[in-house]
Amino acid sequence: MVRLPVVMMVIATMAAVVPYTCRSITTNNHRLHPVILVPGAGGNQLEARLTSDYKASSWLCNRWLYPLKKDEGGWFRLWFDVGVLLAPLTECFAERMTIYYDRDVDDYRNAPGVETRVTQFGSTQSLLCLDPSLKHITSYMEALVESIQQLGYKDSQNLFGAPYDFRYGLASEGHPSYVGSTFLENLKQLVENASNANGGNPVILVSHSLGGLFALQLLNRNPPSWRKQYVKHFIALSAPWGGAVDEMLTFASGNALGVPLVNPLLVRNEQRSSESNLWLMPRRKQFPVETPLVVTPDSAYSSFDISRFLTDIGFEEGVYPYETRIMPMVEELAAPGVPVTCIVGNGVPTAETLYYGEDGFDKQPEIVYGDGDGTVNIASLLALEDEWEEEKDQKLKVIKLAGISHMDILKDDKSLARIIDEITTINSDISSSSLASSL
Ligand SMILES: *[C@@H]1O[C@H](CO)[C@@H](O)[C@H](O)[C@H]1NC(C)=O
Repeated sequence: MVRLPVVMMVIATMAAVVPYTCRSITTNNHRLHPVILVPGAGGNQLEARLTSDYKASSWLCNRWLYPLKKDEGGWFRLWFDVGVLLAPLTECFAERMTIYYDRDVDDYRNAPGVETRVTQFGSTQSLLCLDPSLKHITSYMEALVESIQQLGYKDSQNLFGAPYDFRYGLASEGHPSYVGSTFLENLKQLVENASNANGGNPVILVSHSLGGLFALQLLNRNPPSWRKQYVKHFIALSAPWGGAVDEMLTFASGNALGVPLVNPLLVRNEQRSSESNLWLMPRRKQFPVETPLVVTPDSAYSSFDISRFLTDIGFEEGVYPYETRIMPMVEELAAPGVPVTCIVGNGVPTAETLYYGEDGFDKQPEIVYGDGDGTVNIASLLALEDEWEEEKDQKLKVIKLAGISHMDILKDDKSLARIIDEITTINSDISSSSLASSL
């Protein structure tokens, strides 16, 4: 889905003008609550290294041949390198990005011979852009980071980034999820370190897209006393709480990374393999049983038919992990008690129903659009309003930005101003713990 469409980013970058204003001198740095950015799927760089166990599917993908440029340790940037937009290289990329569910250990793992790592954990560096050789056209959180820095924030001092291997997800209780849980442990450490390094001031978590689902899990998997001590506020941008119909399109027919030249079928297997993509299938509560999301000449599928849908598109391997690991986890969207602000775009045409013809799922469907941010449906973006309606102790604020897309929320001036306003308001809350505890 929700993995970043590259060309959309190009356009968004050219259109957005970063508001370069004078650095605010009114803010007192040591009073600032540290900010931790949690990116969305595809929102940070990912490195890989190929070992002798790697079996290339074609001579071109041979590990000595592509990519030629690696560091001494053999590491290269797997996500993202614009070179992979060339068809023959797209296949090398896809086979290296693919992950596999291993039923024996009940967990996902990389393709044989492919080692991956996230670099610069703790810094915002790897979230700024995805391919530093083409900084501008692959920029991601750069404009947001610059805006936050204008409040007096400094990278790795009171502004941090939490990149992760976004292909992996988390699983319901009792199921191992090595990569995802390791990320949550590191994120927990980062929250504690950030707070400790800033006079015990609790942090503000700012997530984009899938990062919001991870951040909520972080909160809910730690005791209320921990949340209260370390987290001041959670700002979730464009979070797909209830999944997205767009995800069914990705599973059925592939998603061309937002680039018209890429054949979506070349990346479909890789995208199907991603555990985090499975996490973002439409959730029952937001997409009722009577609403078909995918329609074919022979059948119709609602959010209650995801298993049958996965089988019919030819991805039966996904059914077991979906039913055992994902479904029980997404049923719960517990309120963390920490104040939450959701900032979402709306009024952008968003895939709501997919109509497939006689040619099956290999052919792109006719799409009927509804409300949302262009990627995530409005019911999903607003899911917490319903979900936490009865939660008396949960502070929830929802800010809707008309016409702002899933990606534009990180770049558009109006949206950046709104996010900055929210961070400023949180920082000026004089009931905050540092002052209260000094009384
Ligand atoms: C947190 O701080 C400890 C002690 O300084 C350090 O060893 C660890 O790497 C830090 N972890 C993170 C995620 O920042």
